[in-house]
Amino acid sequence: MIHYFEDTYTRHLKSTKAERSQMWYLFTIMYFIRILGIAHGVIQNQRSVNPEADMNISQIISYWGYPDEEYDIVTEDGYILGLFRIPYGKTNNNKNLVQRVVYLQHGLLTSASSWISNLPNNSLGFILADAGYDVWMGNSRGNTWSRKHLYLETNSKEFWAFSFDEMAKYDLPASIDFIVKKTRQEEIFYVGHSQGTTIGFITFSTIPKIAERVKIFFALAPVFSTKYLKSPLITITYKWKSIVKVFSGNKDFLSKTSFKKFVGSKLCPLQIFEKICLNILFMMCGYDPKNLNMSRLDVYFSHNPAGTSIQNMLHWSQLLNSTHLKAYDWGSPDLNLVHYNQTTSPLYNVTNMNVATAIWNGERDLLADPEDVKILHSEITNRIYYKTISYYNHIDFLFGLDVYDQVYHEIIDIIQDNL
Ligand SMILES: *[C@@H]1O[C@H](CO)[C@@H](O)[C@H](O)[C@H]1NC(C)=O
Ligand SMILES: *[C@@H]1O[C@H](CO)[C@@H](O)[C@H](O)[C@H]1NC(C)=O
Ligand SMILES: *[C@@H]1O[C@H](CO)[C@@H](O)[C@H](O)[C@H]1NC(C)=O
Ligand SMILES: *[C@@H]1O[C@H](CO)[C@@H](O)[C@H](O)[C@H]1NC(C)=O
Ligand SMILES: *[C@@H]1O[C@H](CO)[C@@H](O)[C@H](O)[C@H]1NC(C)=O
Ligand SMILES: *[C@@H]1O[C@H](CO)[C@@H](O)[C@H](O)[C@H]1NC(C)=O
Repeated sequence: MIHYFEDTYTRHLKSTKAERSQMWYLFTIMYFIRILGIAHGVIQNQRSVNPEADMNISQIISYWGYPDEEYDIVTEDGYILGLFRIPYGKTNNNKNLVQRVVYLQHGLLTSASSWISNLPNNSLGFILADAGYDVWMGNSRGNTWSRKHLYLETNSKEFWAFSFDEMAKYDLPASIDFIVKKTRQEEIFYVGHSQGTTIGFITFSTIPKIAERVKIFFALAPVFSTKYLKSPLITITYKWKSIVKVFSGNKDFLSKTSFKKFVGSKLCPLQIFEKICLNILFMMCGYDPKNLNMSRLDVYFSHNPAGTSIQNMLHWSQLLNSTHLKAYDWGSPDLNLVHYNQTTSPLYNVTNMNVATAIWNGERDLLADPEDVKILHSEITNRIYYKTISYYNHIDFLFGLDVYDQVYHEIIDIIQDNL
């Protein structure tokens, strides 16, 4: 059965029938895992796990001996976001020197943990801190570290009525404003991965006073054009809209924290489950086991998926076959009129963004399709770098064993040339 699953998803789900079997397969796994969850005690202490699998972000940062700071910031519409900072590194001692800020924004269904999940010599957060930068890591509303609101209950429908539109309109401006005030830096460097680039493109093309704070935009696996988007996760969300809504109460998607921790730190290290865990990851992102450190899967799985709203997943699924990135379609001309003062959802347009932009993408990426990235690249006015890595998929930009050589050291080189 496992083999069948693996075969179908690598075929990119060409047929509806395959998709249906996959969906049921996924539910079967989830059900199976839930049942096993009850027998929890039986499978404890099976194989040693990395301690970071049971830690939160601040704990991981200090576990590796780095200074960590944690802030709760409030957006204009009342969401409380967890913002994390590694103010300086281990190898640079000039703590009193004012350091340039690099801000890291995670992608779809992940969190700030994306930047600190590998060993320090292969995690962008730690590498930048050691290279002498003041590193800040944001969290989008609805993920593990940003699930609070000034007055809305987290389990209310109102809390979960958002998609990446709001992350771009409120979350990113709140984070960047806070950092700029706190550090008194005029300009910051921005690194985004996946949806973290989508948000960046939207914010920087619609809010000039935030755009002028960004010296260079480093876009890893960028998603803006969605013409060729074919991630099975998004296709499945589209096909199974109604079931997904029922399963989740139309609120949050893939975010049951304790359940996930159990899967990550207790189940994935078990040999029989390793393959299933990998399958789910690959289904979301693309397939390349050779470039992953298999001994760290427990860390990756206990922190991912970090959850988002159903509305965000539906927003992405609305973009299948769409030639342009658009705001969320509220479902009827009347509702759109209320939200946008027009009957259809408005298009986003990146051509008037002036921020200097560097792009890295992978040819095996199911979310940031190479053809889409080409379209995006042609629409950016101020292009400074563009590299395509033939064997990279969506998560190699975070967890790839050779990501330092392929991507991170180039980011640092470009920053150093532009100080
Ligand atoms: C992380 O864990 C530490 C120690 O338990 C705790 O003090 C801190 O508040 C936690 N941070 C978050 C964001 O949960
Ligand atoms: C990081 O350190 C580990 C353990 O020392 C080593 O095996 C690995 O090759 C290093 N990775 C990089 C990218 O330098
Ligand atoms: C892979 O992860 C293990 C466990 O964290 C670590 O000991 C090892 O050094 C890592 N290997 C590389 C090449 O980074
Ligand atoms: C996209 O186009 C394909 C082929 O034209 C069609 O089968 C599919 O239903 C479309 N998907 C959406 C979300 O419109
Ligand atoms: C809404 O759109 C109409 C016609 O396009 C325009 O006249 C009006 O000023 C708009 N209202 C607002 C609040 O933007
Ligand atoms: C984006 O804006 C440019 C310049 O204003 C315009 O030429 C182009 O047609 C717009 N694209 C979309 C998709 O609206």
